[in-house]
Amino acid sequence: MSNFRLLTIVGARPQIIKASAISRCIKSNFSDQITEVLLHTGQHYDKELSQVFFDELEIEPPSYNLGVGSSIHGQQIADMIAGIEKVIMKEQPDAVLLYGDTNSTLAGAVIAAKHHVPIVHVEAGLRSFNKRMPEELNRLICDHSSTLMFAPTNDAFHNLMNEGLRPENSPPYNIDNPKIYLTGDIMYDNALFFGEMAVRKKSDFLNLHGLTPGEYILATIHRDTNTDDGQRLENILKTFISIGKEYSKTFLLPLHPRTQKILETKLPALYTEILQSEVIMVIKPVSYLEMIMLEKESLMIITDSGGVQKESHFFKKPCIVLRKETEWTELVKNGTAVLADADPEKIRSGFDCFMKSKDKLRYPTFYGDGKAAEFILSEILMLKE
Ligand code: UD1
Ligand code: UDP
Repeated sequence: MSNFRLLTIVGARPQIIKASAISRCIKSNFSDQITEVLLHTGQHYDKELSQVFFDELEIEPPSYNLGVGSSIHGQQIADMIAGIEKVIMKEQPDAVLLYGDTNSTLAGAVIAAKHHVPIVHVEAGLRSFNKRMPEELNRLICDHSSTLMFAPTNDAFHNLMNEGLRPENSPPYNIDNPKIYLTGDIMYDNALFFGEMAVRKKSDFLNLHGLTPGEYILATIHRDTNTDDGQRLENILKTFISIGKEYSKTFLLPLHPRTQKILETKLPALYTEILQSEVIMVIKPVSYLEMIMLEKESLMIITDSGGVQKESHFFKKPCIVLRKETEWTELVKNGTAVLADADPEKIRSGFDCFMKSKDKLRYPTFYGDGKAAEFILSEILMLKE
């Protein structure tokens, strides 16, 4: 069999991190069978949101960077589609690999499907059942254009089944005869691979910032619903200040540039208040190893991020989710995550509850055995048989 040519598309921070699990596994187990060509759309371009992960996670530099940057959805997606199309025509890949639910995922799905290139969707089947969320549209379109779909959790797998997609189809697989799998989560592969290394290499970070393990709350906010509504952002940040004062705890906030820009331009008084607050520590976005070390050593996690919610589970920390709904429903059913929206009462009661119950919480395995990447790659090879 000739070498399988896999075109992987990334664009946003979590996709670069996800890609490291698959790229690492190609290098270690499939280098004689799969040639990976990496395309970065350039959706994320700040060093802290992009280059830092290539350096730290030893991912090969992308063969293509479209440099699309930030713009309103239509323009950004159109630029991506035009750029990806040229690469597909030049590289003639056997499949296109897409991660998650960003605009880069959507653009890759639309144009790969138009060129009849099979799409492999990793992190398939997640649903918020809220179509006002840009990511929900991206996921639906990507899943329903895919040939192979790898669901990370039981609930994600059942979402695909409920939409008529099936695991028992026989080859040859294609867009009209797709196949779904329950695989576990490649982010769990990463957490197992990098978890100990992160603490070994990055613990100095705590000293440097005057942080004590178990005494700080790690918080991230970047979801459009929270950043683009000043009242919600204010509710969340003022609640952090009030809880921090009452419990004498620090809220560590590695600030996504989207949130920082909105605070600077639209909410300067609030921004000044949090920068001056003794209980909030604002830092730049951190590297992946720094982030998972910070998660492991934290008291609790508060976030609207998908990836960070799961990592709270991997590292056995209670999590307050700053959203109305979540795709990672197993966490809420398990009682280790609580949906608090941007409601000060719910954030506070979640915090109070977890302070009392945190030592009794249990964190069962929901995300596979840490070998999802290996399984995914062996199945991708079937596309060429
Ligand atoms: C994107 C994804 C979201 C994902 C998140 C991961 C979409 C629709 N959204 O959200 O699903 O959870 O990435 O972090 O694809 N910006 C910078 N520097 C950068 C990148 C962005 O300053 O390197 C600022 C710009 O002001 C930009 C804003 O952040 O307008 C939003 O960036 P964008 O990529 O559109 O969406 P994210 O909020 O990052
Ligand atoms: N992350 C990071 N540095 C940070 C914040 C997050 O490395 O300052 C990592 C985090 O550990 C997780 C991923 O980025 O693996 C989550 O990405 P993000 O929250 O941007 O997007 P989402 O998962 O919500 O799509």
